[in-house]
Amino acid sequence: MKVAIIGGTGDQGFGLALRFAKSGEKVLLGSRDIKKAENTVNIIHNMLKGEELDCIKAMTNQDAAAQGDILILTVPLQAQKATLLSIKDHLEGKILVDATVPLETCLGGSSTRYVDLWEGSAAERSAEILKDKNTVVISAFNNVSSASLTNIKEDVKCDCLISGGDAESKAMVMELAEKIPGVKAIDCGPLENARIVEKITPLLINLNIRNKTRLAGIRITGL
Ligand SMILES: NC(=O)c1ccc[n+]([C@@H]2O[C@H](COP(=O)([O-])OP(=O)(O)OC[C@H]3O[C@@H](n4cnc5c(N)ncnc54)[C@H](OP(=O)(O)O)[C@@H]3O)[C@@H](O)[C@H]2O)c1
Repeated sequence: MKVAIIGGTGDQGFGLALRFAKSGEKVLLGSRDIKKAENTVNIIHNMLKGEELDCIKAMTNQDAAAQGDILILTVPLQAQKATLLSIKDHLEGKILVDATVPLETCLGGSSTRYVDLWEGSAAERSAEILKDKNTVVISAFNNVSSASLTNIKEDVKCDCLISGGDAESKAMVMELAEKIPGVKAIDCGPLENARIVEKITPLLINLNIRNKTRLAGIRITGL
């Protein structure tokens, strides 16, 4: 199975690509700019020097989308629609994992504030944009911080809350999430629950600021 990271040169895409490459997944790291993707892949190779890398390749977002089986969207909200439209031709029959969090930063505001979207959540907005495609949208990785993903000396001590309507696709994404050491995948039900999950992230950012860390995460207990 090939995991394509759409917007893989940013903090979140980089962290996920790093962890999946480390766990032996085939990773296609996408960017609008192939050179940027190549630089990012070189950094990952240097960080994982000496480890058996199955395969991590730099490519354009379009090529990554065309060749990937599970696509993870890691771009800011303001780039969500343009990025999806740029890869739309390659999304038929694919699983699109949306990690977007609608932060007020997209309006020049604060990263500790959420902005409400007409569709209910960023993940539902992706589903709306792709409604004429046979694409399954799953919401995941919204609350997993890039700082803990990048800190490869330690396990990622948080859960990955996963929402989506198609049980088989969701199970595949849950299995993928648990390839990251320390992560427990939690089935959060239908895609509309992404409305709740996405709102946790600005709270975690707030907690990071208040506690001078970048590693705040969430664990669900008692299940
Ligand atoms: N950072 C975190 O800890 C974290 C945690 C959970 C969820 N998230 C969510 O994950 C998403 C990505 O976060 P991030 O921190 O990685 O974002 P980022 O670094 O600002 O951007 C990620 C990538 O998106 C592409 N991009 C940026 N602006 C764009 C634009 N205007 N048009 C098209 N592409 C653009 C760029 O890739 P190219 O220039 O290479 O094309 C960039 O490297 C966000 O929605 C964020 O809320 C982040």
